[in-house]
Amino acid sequence: MSVRPFADKLFSLAGKRALVTGSSRGIGAALAEGLSAFGAQVVVHGAKENSTRATREAIEKAGGTCFSVSGDLSLAHAGEKLIEEAERLAGGIDILVINASMQINGEIGDIDDESFDGHVAVNLRSTLDMLQACLPGMAERGWGRVVNVGSINQIRPKPVVTMYAATKAAQHNLIQSLARQYAPRGVLLNTLAPGLVDTDRNADRRDGDPEAWAAYVRGLNWMGRAGTVDEMVGAAVFLSSNACSFMTGETIVMTGGY
Ligand SMILES: NC(=O)c1ccc[n+]([C@@H]2O[C@H](COP(=O)([O-])OP(=O)(O)OC[C@H]3O[C@@H](n4cnc5c(N)ncnc54)[C@H](OP(=O)(O)O)[C@@H]3O)[C@@H](O)[C@H]2O)c1
Repeated sequence: MSVRPFADKLFSLAGKRALVTGSSRGIGAALAEGLSAFGAQVVVHGAKENSTRATREAIEKAGGTCFSVSGDLSLAHAGEKLIEEAERLAGGIDILVINASMQINGEIGDIDDESFDGHVAVNLRSTLDMLQACLPGMAERGWGRVVNVGSINQIRPKPVVTMYAATKAAQHNLIQSLARQYAPRGVLLNTLAPGLVDTDRNADRRDGDPEAWAAYVRGLNWMGRAGTVDEMVGAAVFLSSNACSFMTGETIVMTGGY
């Protein structure tokens, strides 16, 4: 067997159209660039208009095809509108990476209406909206992949992120229900659940008290370090590809050992 055609058959994303939510920076930007490197056309997204410029430029500089959309996913029907716009630009969506999320740290006593409603809107309702809008098209075409970026907190919640963890767990439960429903129609949905990854999300804690942060990170996992955004790419490419053909409703956990 020749290696190159076999590798392409498994991992090439040529001809596929992907939307990566929250790809203006952090993990989402790395995933968008990674999917593009494997041949997908990518629609990048950020909450703020023009926040995706750097990701788009990086993809285009590397020779990829990229479209850009924006929208705050806490707003009613934002997920549905995002899919409509991405499908209009790319001509359809074959791979949906649900990556944008809300995270307000706080223990149970800190959860107010704003935190509750925000987490539910961004992490859960927009997920449902996007899936309702794009799964029927994927099923009609007989091929689709959904990569939900969850969190280790969906499995082993820490009290400081109670609402975030609860909505991440519910989000994966939704993925599992739909994975079961769509499995016979070529549409596979899985979750990639990272542990700590060095991004803007942790910048306040990291930069606020670097020594305490370093000690926290050293004791957090078996490798004693945060993951990098690039370390998330391989698993996301796998879950987006034909190599992932007998796996759905599952979770890949990437924590550095936990
Ligand atoms: N970093 C970690 O340690 C870690 C660990 C486990 C799981 N995760 C998960 O990995 C994913 C990416 O995390 P990250 O650390 O890379 O995030 P990040 O650096 O904080 O980036 C957040 C991204 O989401 C977008 N976004 C934020 N709020 C939004 C909203 N209301 N509507 C639409 N888009 C919104 C941002 O757009 P703008 O740039 O326009 O603001 C940005 O593109 C998240 O689902 C997170 O829960 C992260």
